[in-house]
Amino acid sequence: MTGKNIIELRGIFKSYNGQQILNDINLNIKDGEFLTLLGPSGCGKTTLLRLLAGFESPISGQILIEGKDAKELSPQERHINTVFQSYALFPHMNVFDNVAFGLRCDGVTEDAIQTRVTEMLRMVRLSGYEKRKPHELSGGQQQRVAIARAVVKEPIVLLLDEPLSSLDYRLRKNMQIELKQLQRKLGIAFVFVTHDQEEALSMSDTIVVMQQGHVVQQGTPRDIYENPKNLSVATFIGESNIFDVLIEKADEKMIQVTVQGISYTLENREDFHQGDKIHLLIRPEDTRVYHRSEIETTEGMFPAVVSEVIYKGTTVDLIIKLPDGKLLSVTEFFDEDNGEDVTYTIGESVWVNWPIGWEVVLPYEA
Ligand SMILES: Nc1ncnc2c1ncn2[C@@H]1O[C@H](COP(=O)(O)OP(=O)(O)OP(=O)(O)O)[C@@H](O)[C@H]1O
Ligand SMILES: [Mg+2]
Repeated sequence: MTGKNIIELRGIFKSYNGQQILNDINLNIKDGEFLTLLGPSGCGKTTLLRLLAGFESPISGQILIEGKDAKELSPQERHINTVFQSYALFPHMNVFDNVAFGLRCDGVTEDAIQTRVTEMLRMVRLSGYEKRKPHELSGGQQQRVAIARAVVKEPIVLLLDEPLSSLDYRLRKNMQIELKQLQRKLGIAFVFVTHDQEEALSMSDTIVVMQQGHVVQQGTPRDIYENPKNLSVATFIGESNIFDVLIEKADEKMIQVTVQGISYTLENREDFHQGDKIHLLIRPEDTRVYHRSEIETTEGMFPAVVSEVIYKGTTVDLIIKLPDGKLLSVTEFFDEDNGEDVTYTIGESVWVNWPIGWEVVLPYEA
């Protein structure tokens, strides 16, 4: 993203009843970006949104909104709107009036309201639903009313706190695409909160991974997935097979380790030394399984046994047991052109490996 920063957080601390909730948060939000706060329950995501919206103040640190110190700005003056998980629609008002509410409070003329609300409802594909009450709408439609109501006031940033979490799987997938398209059409920044890593990966320009009130990593979805900064980010973002190993030899360029009796030479990207303990992570989709009949040479391959086969439609997920009992997750994709046979049976003996160099090497965390 090349947009300018519309929000800057500098050294933000927040505590409740003496308990530290946000710990030195430094973060820039760029104009027009889809930024996702991702982290486990209780890590401080909602608290951070409440600070941005102006419902709470930090203990220390500074929030700049379009260059102005947020301390000087009331929630109304910030031009930041929020969509809550519960939607919080007015139950007695119809769709049109729900969306028009904020504009009426601001004293916008009825003519202008008519134009803006109609256009907004068209954008969220709710034309024709103007007269319905919230209870006459599906969950996804209520969600779209909530978004229309927040966006009609033309905020500079829209905050969305787990807006999709109460929707069923299918609707949630559809709403993810709709939200992303709406954000692109509107061209405003979205700060989106989720604890669903798949949702974060598929929707965001930028992901901010939070843990216990800290920002642990910020980057593009690809960055975060392929180059997680530490073990907790790696395990939070997707599944991994993890080997804990000792570095047997090292120089500036390479490290040498032994995994389950097989020797590996890997690039030394972090100034590791001989004797250092490391985690070696291999993603399930990078882990390869071969039928015993498929492979002649077995060099660099682990003997293993299939212990579970889970059919997923587009993939087959396998649990593979290594001789020492360690279990590995493997995702095999159907590839009909290739004619590859992904039919495995429980108890079958197989070979396992992964392309050398595709591992993520991380410093050991106890
Ligand atoms: N008003 C409050 N008073 C005291 N403690 C609070 C208050 N609001 C939040 N907390 C605490 O702050 C921490 C962070 O809460 P927050 O709601 O920001 O988490 P979250 O990341 O949004 O979690 P979730 O994914 O469950 O929504 C929690 O430990 C919570 O109990
Ligand atoms: Mg929350």
